[in-house]
Amino acid sequence: MKTLVRVALALALSFAFFVAAAADDYPSRPITMIVPFAAGGPTDVVGRLLAQYMSQTLGQNVIVEDVTGAAGTIGVGRAAAAPPDGYTLSLGHWSTHVINGAIYKLSYDLLRDFAPVTLLPSNPMLIVSRNSLPAKNLKELVAWVKDHPHATMGTAGVGSGSHIAGVYFEKFTGTHVQFVPYRGTDPALIDLMAGRIDVMFDQVSEASPKLQDGRIKAYAVTAKTRLPSLPQIPTVDEAGLPGLYINIWYGLWVPKATPAGIIAKLNHAAVTAMANPAVQKRFAELGLDMPPRDQQTPQALGALQKAEIQKWWPIVKAAGIKAQ
Ligand code: MLT
Repeated sequence: MKTLVRVALALALSFAFFVAAAADDYPSRPITMIVPFAAGGPTDVVGRLLAQYMSQTLGQNVIVEDVTGAAGTIGVGRAAAAPPDGYTLSLGHWSTHVINGAIYKLSYDLLRDFAPVTLLPSNPMLIVSRNSLPAKNLKELVAWVKDHPHATMGTAGVGSGSHIAGVYFEKFTGTHVQFVPYRGTDPALIDLMAGRIDVMFDQVSEASPKLQDGRIKAYAVTAKTRLPSLPQIPTVDEAGLPGLYINIWYGLWVPKATPAGIIAKLNHAAVTAMANPAVQKRFAELGLDMPPRDQQTPQALGALQKAEIQKWWPIVKAAGIKAQ
């Protein structure tokens, strides 16, 4: 019996030593950050900026890999199956790490298979259309969609932020649109600018530069207050769809069994990146809101993710949104 206890103790000690050594040496090679949507889109833009500045603190390149499809579930699934060694990061947001669990039969569990690293910035969405659409405000847009039962709405796939917002638009207005799924909102926005689709919900960070260049029209922001960067755009409350609030918050996760020391190093690198004035300036220009410093922790992200799952899964299930 004593021998058994001694062996168990030795094994436990060598495992603890291995974990500590892994964290001490970390990182000794490049790190992959999996972005689950198309290059050039809002998630990709957040990921690339963060990766660039995290690399400086970590002393190793953080390389963004866009693994797209099925509203982010393919990329998040790839990250869930990666070794828990800190060399694969999962960048995601409200829809990939909350909503998808209510819609898809996932090969991973959003809470059990991931450990949170930090909460990242957030932004609401804009209801936007192609420039040639005749509506001058949200009420006219709703009337136009009612008159055009084949109106097309671009999305980043069933369950993506842009799709969930579109489903709420249908429910709030009693309209019906033809959803057109893409691998991210960037290719959808390209088609919107070219007039190949009619409308979409797009995150402020992606839509606002195109709006400022006059390449799309915007009708409302899905927030309670107007944005300082776009004061001319009314809120959904003011424009006629009260309560249609959607806020896309970002987060960074790693596979569940990643050692705590490695998570601490990654958190420090992300927090240092978010404190950098150049990063803060860029996020502000894009209309992204930085979380307060005391929320930039694994605990805050974990708590928010759990609370959002409790809030949204019943709503999404009751709305009958399905992957097919
Ligand atoms: C993207 O990066 O393309 C978007 O975050 C997708 C979405 O609408 O959820």
